[in-house]
Amino acid sequence: MGQPQPLGALQGKTAIVTGSTSGIGAAIAAAFAREGARVVVTGRRTAEGQAVAARIGPRATFVRADLTDDGELRELVAGAAGRFGRIDCLVNNAGTPGHAVSITDLPVADFDHAHAVHVRAPLLLLQEVSRHMVPHRSGSIINVASVSGLRAGFSGHDYSVAKAGLLHLTRCAAVELGESGIRVNTVSPGPVATGIHRKATGHGTPVAEDGADEAEPLFARFLPRWQPCPEVGRAEDVAEAAVFLAGDGARFVNGQNLTVDGALTAGRPWSTVLDERRAMQEAARDGGHLTE
Ligand SMILES: NC(=O)c1ccc[n+]([C@@H]2O[C@H](COP(=O)([O-])OP(=O)(O)OC[C@H]3O[C@@H](n4cnc5c(N)ncnc54)[C@H](OP(=O)(O)O)[C@@H]3O)[C@@H](O)[C@H]2O)c1
Repeated sequence: MGQPQPLGALQGKTAIVTGSTSGIGAAIAAAFAREGARVVVTGRRTAEGQAVAARIGPRATFVRADLTDDGELRELVAGAAGRFGRIDCLVNNAGTPGHAVSITDLPVADFDHAHAVHVRAPLLLLQEVSRHMVPHRSGSIINVASVSGLRAGFSGHDYSVAKAGLLHLTRCAAVELGESGIRVNTVSPGPVATGIHRKATGHGTPVAEDGADEAEPLFARFLPRWQPCPEVGRAEDVAEAAVFLAGDGARFVNGQNLTVDGALTAGRPWSTVLDERRAMQEAARDGGHLTE
């Protein structure tokens, strides 16, 4: 696949991309800068954030902020607004993995943390950036949710419920802020090979990030049974969807969810359907018993 050519789709705009020290957020920040935006890269890891910003070039600046600290989030927005004079786009991308625990045993502390990161922090940031967007009667807020917010059983329950909350936060905000010229949309990725999958299995962040690519061959092996487009989704695929929603080309798109999932949530791959139909017909011919 060739690299997208810069089209200047975000020329002159400024954006904050949370969770851009790695993975999907780093790809979004890079794509926004390629399209001409000035980008605030943010997360808790200073060395990694500075390295991402350096790789992107002069249009990117790193500012450290922890999503669970309201004061740091307010400073993040105030600092960006002070530095650039305006904020055109906020991407609420930062996230932590869910826990594969029975709903009956799910620690409420994990549930609370998932909501703090995936719903509460995006709400607070949305409130802060809106103050700068409303006077200009323009702005784009993009929340990165997940296919797990649309369908149960893809990830831990704490994560899935929080992502569903984020999807509905998007709609609630869109119907109100749309009246002030601000659009609020969601991008919902399917599986993408990033460090989040090893973090989900208990690896520390450095180990998880080093092995981020290891998820790709695993996904490539298992996904074609469920995902109609058999390729593994890339962080860059999600980034291009975010570029579209941030740009003026999406000026009339508000309150929507754009899935970037190779049709995972649209339905089952047709070849899987045919395989199962054949297996059922054979079983019917053999007396109605399905054999393994
Ligand atoms: N990868 C997938 O398969 C997939 C699928 C669907 C949706 N998503 C969503 O996509 C988003 C990005 O995930 P990813 O796959 O790119 O994972 P990732 O590489 O682990 O990125 C997660 C980002 O969130 C930041 N973060 C986590 N907790 C934070 C906190 N308390 N304060 C500030 N920043 C925090 C991390 O930065 P620091 O560690 O530096 O703080 C990191 O930059 C998440 O919302 C995730 O739920 C991912």
